[in-house]
Amino acid sequence: MLSLFRKKKHTWEPDRLPRHIAIIMDGNGRWAAKRALPRTAGHAAGAETFRRIATYCKDIGIEYLTIYAFSTENWKRPDGEVSKIMELLEKYLHEAIAKMERDKVKMKFLGDTTLLSPGLRALIAETQELSDKFDGVQVNICLNYGSRDEIMRAAEHYAEDMIAGRLSADKLTEEIFSNYMFSAGIPDPDMIIRPSGEVRLSNFLLWQSAYAELYFTDVLWPDFNERELDRAIISFQERDRRYGGIKK
Ligand code: IPE
Ligand code: IPE
Ligand code: MG
Repeated sequence: MLSLFRKKKHTWEPDRLPRHIAIIMDGNGRWAAKRALPRTAGHAAGAETFRRIATYCKDIGIEYLTIYAFSTENWKRPDGEVSKIMELLEKYLHEAIAKMERDKVKMKFLGDTTLLSPGLRALIAETQELSDKFDGVQVNICLNYGSRDEIMRAAEHYAEDMIAGRLSADKLTEEIFSNYMFSAGIPDPDMIIRPSGEVRLSNFLLWQSAYAELYFTDVLWPDFNERELDRAIISFQERDRRYGGIKK
């Protein structure tokens, strides 16, 4: 009898999925603190969540997944925590390279990677090179990424090209400027998800998020799962994206 009143399971529509989802992976430290574990255990659990969510995005047909893994401001953290995060990234990249021919995911790194260790830089170069031939699903990892840094570099490089006469266009357009970003060639995110209860962008995709749908949840990143992503997608599909126009 009860089943008669049970609400039909609400799910998302496969033909209106966001093309590009960006995620600020946050809450690893608090997740660990709640369990009386070191913060680094939270990062290890967060890396596991990333694997799951990347696989799920691929399975359901999300074309681009962009992940904020380490910001230009995260260097302020204790050395031990920073090195643990870098170590987890190395581990992830070794696995990604090993599984590349099976997963067929194109991988890109956004941010200034020149400040990373030679070992990590070599892995990044290898991952990008080996995965460049794939064109179905793309995962972008933002590493030593800061949006203000990205915009400043874009302005600097644009000015250099202008002065050197390397630009044919005489007027700067949004399209031209976008091509100077780390995200050149990647469509703007349709949705930005931030778990952990913080309601801010923390220097993430400030240029690209102009018309992104923002989704915040109190769930800590290591607890985020496929069902949480379903909820975010349902919320995305309930919104009316007007881009400054009026409701259709
Ligand atoms: C996100 O989790 C991971 C990184 C920023 C690298 P945090 O480490 O920021 O976790 P909280 O915010 O302290 O809980
Ligand atoms: C943003 O999280 C950076 C990443 C998730 C990589 P933070 O935890 O560094 O952000 P704040 O300090 O809470 O703004
Ligand atoms: Mg945080």
